[in-house]
Amino acid sequence: MLTTDKVTIKFGGLTAVNAVSLHIAPNKITSLIGPNGAGKTTFFNCISGVYKPNSGRVIFNEKEIQGKKPYQINEEGISRTYQIINLFRKMNVLENVVVGMHPRLKSGYLSDMFRTPAQRKEERSAFRKAHEWLEFVGLEEDALNPAASLSYGKQRLLEIVRGLASDPKLILLDEPAAGMNSKEKGELDILLKKILDLGVTILVIEHDMKLVMGVSDYIYVLSNGLLLAQGTPMEVQNNPDVITAYLGGE
Ligand SMILES: Nc1ncnc2c1ncn2[C@@H]1O[C@H](COP(=O)(O)OP(=O)(O)O)[C@@H](O)[C@H]1O
Ligand SMILES: [Mg+2]
Repeated sequence: MLTTDKVTIKFGGLTAVNAVSLHIAPNKITSLIGPNGAGKTTFFNCISGVYKPNSGRVIFNEKEIQGKKPYQINEEGISRTYQIINLFRKMNVLENVVVGMHPRLKSGYLSDMFRTPAQRKEERSAFRKAHEWLEFVGLEEDALNPAASLSYGKQRLLEIVRGLASDPKLILLDEPAAGMNSKEKGELDILLKKILDLGVTILVIEHDMKLVMGVSDYIYVLSNGLLLAQGTPMEVQNNPDVITAYLGGE
């Protein structure tokens, strides 16, 4: 579904992502792991159009997408969440999901979107759909609360469902479990599988090894911008290079 071919990006003298080539198979959960500073988020930024790689190609469903703008990549069918939560904090939960359906809308002013009667009809249907999405992640009771009032774990769920609202084929999740308690993490496991059942492929950056090893079909390991290892959870766990990278010693 997604292939990166020697994707490279440099910041000054630092090669944050160094010739990373990987394949994301459809209808699977692929994880990207590695120590802090390995280049994982930067790699997501290269795929999602936040950064333009210095070299290399990003091929999504047989089409080159590197260098496109984030909203264009979203329209191609790739959605993402952010490591640092990036919601419209003053808007309510439901409105955040509606905004997710309209990737071009940067301002977050919903009233600008729905001016004519035809648009108002569309608005009602958008809000109905948004309600269904909230039910999907169990946030329906928070629909009218400001996004900022939610617990950290619920804000993560809202980011995920806002990403899903544009009906992507692939969703990139950047540390979805960060800040979640253990109960929420357990439920995230189930949610990821429910997302797969919708026909959405998942690429996830995650530090929680129990979650990663439990849900991943395949794992890539980044270290210092380089692809260090790849394989099934079992293969990666037993790879001495991976153990060294994580423990930082011999
Ligand atoms: N916009 C930027 N300008 C300069 N350096 C950056 C920028 N974004 C990321 N980096 C650097 O790139 C490296 C990889 O960062 P990041 O992708 O956030 O790592 P990870 O997500 O694996 O923890 C780090 O050394 C970070 O400081
Ligand atoms: Mg990161």
